[in-house]
Amino acid sequence: MINAHPTRVTILGSTGSIGRSTLEVIRRYPDRFEVVGLAAHANIELLTRQAAEFHPEYVAITGPNATAFNLPPNVELRTGPHALSWLASIPVDVAMCSVVGAAGLRPALAAIDAGNRLALANKEPMVMAGRLIMARALECGVPVIPVDSEHNAIFQCLSGHRVEDVRCIHLTASGGPFQGRSRDSLRSVTPHEATRHPTWDMGAKISVDSATLMNKGLEAIEAMHLFGLPLSKVEIIIHPQSVVHSLVEFRDGSILAHLGVTDMKLPIAFALTWPERVESPMGRLDLTAVRELTFAAPDLNAFPCLGLALEAAAEGGTAPAVLNAANEIAVETFCQGRIGFLDIEEVVRRVLDASAFEPDTDVETVERADALARDAATDICSK
Ligand SMILES: NC(=O)c1ccc[n+]([C@@H]2O[C@H](COP(=O)([O-])OP(=O)(O)OC[C@H]3O[C@@H](n4cnc5c(N)ncnc54)[C@H](OP(=O)(O)O)[C@@H]3O)[C@@H](O)[C@H]2O)c1
Repeated sequence: MINAHPTRVTILGSTGSIGRSTLEVIRRYPDRFEVVGLAAHANIELLTRQAAEFHPEYVAITGPNATAFNLPPNVELRTGPHALSWLASIPVDVAMCSVVGAAGLRPALAAIDAGNRLALANKEPMVMAGRLIMARALECGVPVIPVDSEHNAIFQCLSGHRVEDVRCIHLTASGGPFQGRSRDSLRSVTPHEATRHPTWDMGAKISVDSATLMNKGLEAIEAMHLFGLPLSKVEIIIHPQSVVHSLVEFRDGSILAHLGVTDMKLPIAFALTWPERVESPMGRLDLTAVRELTFAAPDLNAFPCLGLALEAAAEGGTAPAVLNAANEIAVETFCQGRIGFLDIEEVVRRVLDASAFEPDTDVETVERADALARDAATDICSK
């Protein structure tokens, strides 16, 4: 049954890659959606254009240039570090959380507390505090619909099945732009090369994470929390064609796969309209054009960031938050051209080695671990 009233949507991070794709889906179905809120950090120019086109009631800007924003009439604006949580807590049908990094943690919790269905692209909060987020969602009766294509695929494959029947999930990884390259040849990689992904068009941070394979480690942790699985049931498999978006293997030997076009608008549309489906906004996958589907084990020697993430996942507690914070600082510093590509893993390793982990009992503990790890990583990067 199609909703009688438009789905009210807030987009946290509307100026980013996922945020822009979300607005493209909404643009395709103008009668189906109503944009209630938009948020950006620094890209005031694009946010201004988006506000003029989609007429949100509420806008949030977290970065320093908020005063340069020309408000359309009747828009309520909040600025500053708490503006995103304020926007997330305004009642809507779906809150799309598509900011990058740890900045999405409090807003994701605020959306859940307000009873807003969470369409979650922003994986870092799940890595930091996935156990706490999922517990809060369960308590509030709020569905969390994954937007990350792999998790969205697994969510769909699991639908109608019992988690106890899952032998394992297979998270597919394209392998990033440097798949098959020797470790030595990675020393001279530039930020420009690292942000050019072969199959997905994404923001800078996730592109670098894909190049180091840290992204797949973050996704393994995200999957553990989203689906309530132990690390032993999360397998990573390299699949360069990015046609199979992930697979679920059941104990009877059956493997269910999700295939689709390589376009984030597919999982975004799913998350916005769940449990209904709409006509594909980006065409169909031509199966006859799919020449081959290949699968291979990841090379942990060439890409140790994946190994570091799996170690942090096995450690548990605040270890994933420390890993994530160190990685965010290292990637940012790499993108500024101040450290090399292989230094990213070095920074993360050193911060993990120097940290004492605690149980992830509450958000404050996780945030404390995050702050300490950021300081440690910044210190290492500046030497
Ligand atoms: N892109 C993909 O295909 C993809 C796929 C799967 C999962 N994801 C996940 O989705 C999230 C977003 O990725 P993306 O590629 O869309 O990133 P992106 O293009 O870099 O966009 C990030 C968005 O977050 C905002 N932002 C940046 N720093 C912020 C801060 N400190 N506080 C509040 N907002 C902030 C940005 O605002 P300004 O533009 O104003 O700076 C922008 O709207 C990431 O967690 C990523 O891992 C992305």
